[in-house]
Amino acid sequence: MTGLAQIRSTFLDFFKRQGHEVVASSPLVPRNDPTLMFANSGMVQFKNVFTGMEKRAYSRATTAQKCVRAGGKHNDLDNVGYTARHHTFFEMLGNFSFGDYFKAEAIEWAWTLVTREFGLPKDKLTVTVFSEDDEAHALWRKIAGLPDSRIIRIPTSDNFWSMGDTGPCGPCSEIFYDHGDKIWGGPPGSAEADGDRFIEIWNLVFMQFEQVSKAERIALPKPSIDTGMGLERIAAVLQGTHDNYETDLFRALIAAIVEKTGVAADGEAKASNRVIADHLRASSFLIADGVLPSNEGRGYVLRRIMRRAMRHAELLGAREPLMYRLVPTLVREMGTAYNELVRAEPLITETLYLEETRFKKTLERGLRLLDEGSAGLKKGDTFSGETAFKLYDTYGFPLDLTQDALKPRGIAVDTAAFETSMEAQREEARKAWKGTGEAKTETVWFELREKWGGTEFLGYDTETAEGIVRAIVVDGKEAKSLAAGQKGAIIVNQTPFYGESGGQTGDHGVIRTPEGAVFRVTDTQKRVGDVFVHVGEVEQGTLAPGNAVELAVDHARRAGNRIHHSATHLLHEALRITLGSHVAQKGSLVEPNRLRFDVSHNKAMTPDELQQVEAIANEIVLQNDPVTTRLMSVDAAIAEGAMALFGEKYGDEVRVVSMGRNQHGAGKPVYSLELCGGTHVSRTGDIGLIKVVSESASAAGVRRIEALAGPAARAYLVEQDRRVLAAAAALKAPAGEIVTRIESLLDERRKLEKDLADAKKRLALGGGGSAAGADEGVSEVNGVKLMARVLHGISPNDMKGLIDDGKAKLGSGVVALVGLNNEGRAGLIVGVTDDLTKRFNAVDLVRAGAAALGGKGGGGRPDMAQAGGPDGAKAEEALAAVKAALG
Ligand code: ALA
Repeated sequence: MTGLAQIRSTFLDFFKRQGHEVVASSPLVPRNDPTLMFANSGMVQFKNVFTGMEKRAYSRATTAQKCVRAGGKHNDLDNVGYTARHHTFFEMLGNFSFGDYFKAEAIEWAWTLVTREFGLPKDKLTVTVFSEDDEAHALWRKIAGLPDSRIIRIPTSDNFWSMGDTGPCGPCSEIFYDHGDKIWGGPPGSAEADGDRFIEIWNLVFMQFEQVSKAERIALPKPSIDTGMGLERIAAVLQGTHDNYETDLFRALIAAIVEKTGVAADGEAKASNRVIADHLRASSFLIADGVLPSNEGRGYVLRRIMRRAMRHAELLGAREPLMYRLVPTLVREMGTAYNELVRAEPLITETLYLEETRFKKTLERGLRLLDEGSAGLKKGDTFSGETAFKLYDTYGFPLDLTQDALKPRGIAVDTAAFETSMEAQREEARKAWKGTGEAKTETVWFELREKWGGTEFLGYDTETAEGIVRAIVVDGKEAKSLAAGQKGAIIVNQTPFYGESGGQTGDHGVIRTPEGAVFRVTDTQKRVGDVFVHVGEVEQGTLAPGNAVELAVDHARRAGNRIHHSATHLLHEALRITLGSHVAQKGSLVEPNRLRFDVSHNKAMTPDELQQVEAIANEIVLQNDPVTTRLMSVDAAIAEGAMALFGEKYGDEVRVVSMGRNQHGAGKPVYSLELCGGTHVSRTGDIGLIKVVSESASAAGVRRIEALAGPAARAYLVEQDRRVLAAAAALKAPAGEIVTRIESLLDERRKLEKDLADAKKRLALGGGGSAAGADEGVSEVNGVKLMARVLHGISPNDMKGLIDDGKAKLGSGVVALVGLNNEGRAGLIVGVTDDLTKRFNAVDLVRAGAAALGGKGGGGRPDMAQAGGPDGAKAEEALAAVKAALG
């Protein structure tokens, strides 16, 4: 027997030998197609290569592509469990030629692989061709030697394959396997074609056209090839069964279910076992590719798949959550081929566990309501739409889950009444919204959200994506278009742009149309919860709602934000370790080139504390462990020790970001655990370096740390280093000695200043300067000695000292000094020796002099008084006035 893994590698190896590049499966969430919910065939990732828009280094490729057909146009969800071949998740094997080989080689290799490598007998095989494709018909005759009766011409669109409403397309040719007459059915094109006897195993598409719009189809630059072979189907054929669920992989998954629940593999439990096995694969692969359960878009498709499986687990009597316990089996079976399952195993396990635990809480009561509501119904009856809505709204039963539960009894759900109830509830929400205060400015966003739902954020996994413009808003109103030079806001169905939140600034970048319009995004904001608003200006062309656009985030800016956001988490924990657990985040700002972080702490941090914070954070950088993100319930996250912001509103489920190993204190294995919706580095080492550059007070009891990380930290240190070197050069000293050199220079300077002041004093009384009288400025008026001088650049304090010196020199007399500063202002001091204070009051004398300087007043004691005035040029006159006052 040939196992799935071996069939996969036989296929890929075969085409590798024919010169094909083995290309990894693209993620389930398409990066390059806004119209697709999930990758649904192998060619999706090569769409733009076929049309010539994108060039690759190879012109032949082969893949095993992960596909999901649930939700959206291709929706097989309802059938899974009840048929032999429907899946929500499957793998498509394919080979591709991008303008390289065409029909002849494609048919030749397909035939060789199927008959030689896989060893299928020729007489079991039948092929179809598009009715007008004589060339393919002739090739099958020549290469396979099949008789005309087994090369069936199909005239309908069945043999013309297209990706969707638009995109590459062309006629196709399919290979069928005949399971023999034990099984009912007829060859393709016959009346019994719907039976299970003839099963299509491979579709060869001769890509020749591109459907550009509904009406227009153009030729591709070169004819190409796209083929698709369902791995599960070919495995069934090679393993001698016509039932995909009887293949080795599904047997292993079902065996695990049987082991965990104690049910039988077949009989009554058969459908439930299949649903669980299939949905386990779809859920796990979706989670590994970044989809998480939510109430909208892809996340809601995932939730529907998970809950459908969980209801079947309940039907099997599983008391405890079951799905998460099956993950190890899935990883064992498929982890080798799809490493993402191994990488995401903890996330998958946790997400499944959380969803099942939450859903179990309401499941039982919901099932009771479902039983009551359908008790009197028989085959062909209709179940109440209102009850189905209540099940949806109160008990978390997606509509298709209710339909699935009633399907085996032949009961349908009144979906029209379900929709009516849903609309009534929306109307209520609208009314409630209009009643709130912020309604006015936000109305436009609320209405857009009503109409289009929230924006799906793809930016955790990618920085580029395609999207459809939902609306353009200018000055709070919807606009029909936005032309070059106009500013406005653009809403898209899905975006890689991060909308400002949690302190992290919004992404910048460009939004383009294939026709060449360019919108430069200068900010991204979130409105009414999850409407992402791209704010900016059109640089060229015109954009309008409905346009398919490419969105590209400014990578450098995003990378800077990532680094600084992760650094913020590391600093937060380092602050708690250093300062104590009272430290709580009071606000943060994450920009591409810096971060700011406010914490509650009531005194300035010491340089030692700051250094420790920086050292601890950098220690975790060097650990270089992966940064992990999980989705958890708030309670579980907090129980694990995650830091949540007090007073912040969180949804039921939160993203929890963990970083580093804890080396500071026992008990907690993870260094930092925070509830956070931001974008982060993959490993802590990506931060490179963290440098705290300032610490200051931001408000009472709140300190503010500013720090740099990554290239910004390095640039800062380089600049600091440059300054040190410049200082060293100026000092003509080695860099290591600049501090001692500066200290000794400062000492020297203090000493020189003192020497200078002394010299000035000496100079002041010892000579020089001008004199208002005789020798050394000393004269006599009526027998009283007067020393009168004008001095330059002496401080008022020194002047007082000089008055004392002067008095001592005179023994008995009056000393009058005018000091001039550099701005030309004058200060006048007059001293009177004690024996003369009865005759002359220094205050009176100083006032007499001050008048000459243009000053008013003056004050002091009888033995010493001071005054000032603006007019320094009148210094001599002031002294003369003092002298006159002695007469
Ligand atoms: N793209 C083709 C298919 O999905 C091969 O069938």
